[in-house]
Amino acid sequence: MLIDREEENRKRIIVALDFSSEDEVLRLLDQLDPRLCRVKVGKELFTARGPKLVKKIHKRAFDVFLDLKFHDIPNTVASAIRAAASELGVWMLNVHASGGRAMLKAACEAIADVDCRRPHLIGVTVLTSLNDADLAELGLRCSAPRQVARLARVCCEAGLGGVVCSPAEVAMLRAELPREFLLVTPGIRRPEDTKGDQKRIMGPAEAIVNGADYLVIGRPITRASDPAAALEDYISSISGVVPNPY
Ligand code: C5P
Repeated sequence: MLIDREEENRKRIIVALDFSSEDEVLRLLDQLDPRLCRVKVGKELFTARGPKLVKKIHKRAFDVFLDLKFHDIPNTVASAIRAAASELGVWMLNVHASGGRAMLKAACEAIADVDCRRPHLIGVTVLTSLNDADLAELGLRCSAPRQVARLARVCCEAGLGGVVCSPAEVAMLRAELPREFLLVTPGIRRPEDTKGDQKRIMGPAEAIVNGADYLVIGRPITRASDPAAALEDYISSISGVVPNPY
């Protein structure tokens, strides 16, 4: 399959489909153009609607980021990854970096031998819901950013294609990791958007300048009165924006 590089570069926005009902998802997808964005299917939607809905989303030509954050023994994670890659044909999927190097390597090996398009495999470092006190309680005596950097390095060494990180971590990770290592960030808002439960937010252009490759955006698009217009507005705010050189 020929990949249109320009389109690839343009589709930096991943719309988070945080719904449990199929009707809501399909109604939203009717309003969005798969040439302009990708979509993320998370635990709620996948638990409620499963692979059938992922297939319906693919039929509408949207690339899917399957955000199930696998975390288990290496063999189990490798099998789950193989199934997601070969049976669902998703574009991106993720695992918890804290599953350790052997689990991360097993996940990479599992996608290496799928027949179809190889998905991007990315790591989840420290959940943004955890602060330094939470980490200390779990026996980790270092700050959250340090732990994020440590886990991102392990992901990179194990062969993963990138990590999900908070916008506040993008510049630090971009400075430390190879340029081709993908940084995917949620917590993106325009000044006029409601923050919702996001605490540390960043504007879309700033995130790209700092080195983010993909922006995960949910409610500012999915709950907008005109989701297509909100998506277009996000796209125009990042088009032509050049990342800082590192
Ligand atoms: O609606 P909103 O733009 O806040 O949605 C952000 C999406 O990114 C949600 O699907 C959320 O679960 C996800 N996410 C996040 N923070 C993380 C990891 C994932 O907001 N650290």
